[in-house]
Amino acid sequence: MLCLGIETSCDETAASVVRDGRVALSDVVSTQVDIHRRWGGVVPELASRNHVAQVLPVIDEALGRAQVRLTQLDAIAVTTGPGLQGALLVGLQVAKAFCAATGLPLVGVNHLEGHLLAIRLTADAPEPPFLALVVSGGHTTLYAVDAFGVYRRLATTRDDAAGEAYDKVAKLLGLPYPGGQPIDELAQQGDPRAITFPRALKGQDVLDWSFSGLKTAVLQHVQSHGVPEGQARADLCASFQEAVADTLTRKAIAGAKREGGRALVLCGGVAANSRLRSLAVERGAEAGVQVFVPPKRLCTDNGAMIAVAGAEAYRRGVRSALTMDADATWRL
Ligand code: KG4
Ligand code: ZN
Repeated sequence: MLCLGIETSCDETAASVVRDGRVALSDVVSTQVDIHRRWGGVVPELASRNHVAQVLPVIDEALGRAQVRLTQLDAIAVTTGPGLQGALLVGLQVAKAFCAATGLPLVGVNHLEGHLLAIRLTADAPEPPFLALVVSGGHTTLYAVDAFGVYRRLATTRDDAAGEAYDKVAKLLGLPYPGGQPIDELAQQGDPRAITFPRALKGQDVLDWSFSGLKTAVLQHVQSHGVPEGQARADLCASFQEAVADTLTRKAIAGAKREGGRALVLCGGVAANSRLRSLAVERGAEAGVQVFVPPKRLCTDNGAMIAVAGAEAYRRGVRSALTMDADATWRL
């Protein structure tokens, strides 16, 4: 079974051909971060225009690298939400046009389902039921994956997403957008105990997160001490990173125990974070919870994860109408 996956929900134009829902024959990602960086965040109109310019060459390259012709495919999967409406429409219209021209079935995919199932592109992926923590620029949510297509939200952030907190703190420190990786790199040279930042919603009975207080604490620290340089900057990054990784892992592992010790999968852009990855594995081992972390390139947005989710949905009989619309706020 060959499925083409197309992803244009935010600032990555991506396409991939996946075999049998498990093996990526190609995975092409064209990122727009250099375009958005000078604005300090994603500019929706610029994102749409760049998707228009990139989407066909990216799909061509994905088919070419996989050595698969359009007519050899079994289905075309495309992200139809959540995301930026104009950006989503670019991928969706192209997918519809290909399906109309070839007669191939169209499968609309939820971007978050793509993140949840990206782990299937690795050899030792857990089978459902498992738990998955989606941590990205727009989402911080713990899902129970009871079966393919059957998802329960167990916990979510009450304000900022974890990636959003990273990006805002990076801005405060004068670091480039997106801020996750630069903070991660500085944090690795800093002392995580240098500054004690707050851990919100600490109670054992609450699985939800809140990151706005942490962001404010960093702001107040910068207001009273100035923007730190050198070692002090690394220490601040390490202390902030520790607070984020601490609360994310504590609650995700608590959720896994509450659900009978199910395996826990980390996914989304923030799952590329070095401290989150190591602390999750460490705490998982202590708690008897198996933790799976996909390689970093499968954590950030890509077309392969959309093809995987699309192939799984196709197997369950899901087919989307050529009249379907994008849904910028689609909740999984
Ligand atoms: O999943 P993703 O590529 O796009 C969204 O769907 O949002 O996630 C992007 C987010 C950004 O906020 C970025 O700062 C964060 O992931 N990120 C990281 C790291 N790499 C990317 N956050 C912390 N540490 C990292 N190493
Ligand atoms: Zn994403």
